Amino acid sequence: MENFEFYTPTKIYFGRDTHKKVGEIIAGYGFHKILLHYGGGSIHRSGLYNAIVTSLREHDIAWVELGGVSPNPKLSLAKQGMELCRAENVEFILAAGGGSVLDSAKCIADGAANPDVETWEFFEKKREPQGALPVGAILTLAASGSEMSASCVITNEEGWFKRGFNSPYHRPLFSILNPELTFTVSPFQTGCGIVDIMMHTMERYFTLSENVDLTDHLAEGLLKSVIAAGKRAIDNPRDYEARATLMWAGSLSHNDLTGAGRQVFMGVHQMEHELSGMYDFVAHGAGLSVLFPAWAKFQYPYATQRFCQFAVRVWNLEMDYEHPEETAKAGIAATEAFFASLGMPVRLRELGIGAEKLEEMAEKCTFFGKRILPDYKPLGKAEIMEIYRLAL
Ligand code: NZQ
Ligand code: ZN
Repeated sequence: MENFEFYTPTKIYFGRDTHKKVGEIIAGYGFHKILLHYGGGSIHRSGLYNAIVTSLREHDIAWVELGGVSPNPKLSLAKQGMELCRAENVEFILAAGGGSVLDSAKCIADGAANPDVETWEFFEKKREPQGALPVGAILTLAASGSEMSASCVITNEEGWFKRGFNSPYHRPLFSILNPELTFTVSPFQTGCGIVDIMMHTMERYFTLSENVDLTDHLAEGLLKSVIAAGKRAIDNPRDYEARATLMWAGSLSHNDLTGAGRQVFMGVHQMEHELSGMYDFVAHGAGLSVLFPAWAKFQYPYATQRFCQFAVRVWNLEMDYEHPEETAKAGIAATEAFFASLGMPVRLRELGIGAEKLEEMAEKCTFFGKRILPDYKPLGKAEIMEIYRLAL
């Protein structure tokens, strides 16, 4: 087991009706003026907006609001939010939505508290924020794990760069997780969420670190629960227990619990961010679903044992001791088949994407030759190109 730090300061309020306490929770921190931040309208349709403002009024909390966050959230809208926070002396940001809304809120929080810095420099890792406005969340989609993560992922429309960076200031003060709020998530977005949750876990699982048995079993248990609950949530969107399992798994998959004691690569995520950065219509989970099989087919020869463990323990497949590579391949095929059974694409062509921009994406993913992604076989431009081609 490698040395590690584990820091998960976000307070979780989990369960039915918990969102109705939001005013009381915010008042408990002593905030009087907040920004209410949300997406394209789902919180109005579901009644969540009304529940939030009712609770804010009950606790004398004033608010300004900014809606309109799009999937793959954009820097330009976040900049509007920063201006609003400064002009209105906002003390706290409440994000109500999925990962895109949460990340947009985190970006606003960085920018509002660091007015003399060009916010994008944080994403380019040229500077680090010296503080941020506090953020809290009411999550409406189990997927990104942003509700407990240190990460914030934003697209800069100037050049269509999608970049993320980690900061301890990005951990929300609290996150309210009511699985009922996810009943209205479409089958497609539910599938995207299941893939994202699994990939946050699997990208930590496929590691070079030895002797991480406890963390392995936590990850395997999480994956098996998500596979079972995922099927049920697709079949019956109002299955509370299935939605609850997905929601809690989403938080645990990306709060570093399943990475404790390991090196973590996250190469599929890095390659995916180029995909949904360049092609804005691609949902993050759909991009991951396409790229995981390609990445796995490329990497399994360099980590056959690890892929076998995954196949046997997660998918209950028989170990072929004479031909372990067959077991490894069967585990990859089982994963791909599961993603496809959720209605997720598993090839770029299913997204209508051909080879035209693969080279540009590979260049961007290496930061124009400045980085090689650590992995079983490290990923430079040639390797990334090969994986993108395998995904065609
Ligand atoms: O905008 P609204 O109207 O709310 O609609 C959204 C959006 O169209 C809809 N939706 C959300 N909750 C709903 C709902 N529709 C019906 N009922 C509900 N209860 O779903 C659509 C997608 O929402 P989005 O927030 O984009 O999805 P997700 O939560 O998957 O977030 C994806 C973003 O998170 C980033 C991804 O790259 C992507 O930009 N990630 C953030 C991470 C982090 N900060 O830790 C880690 C992840 O790996 C990921 O990169
Ligand atoms: Zn993800």
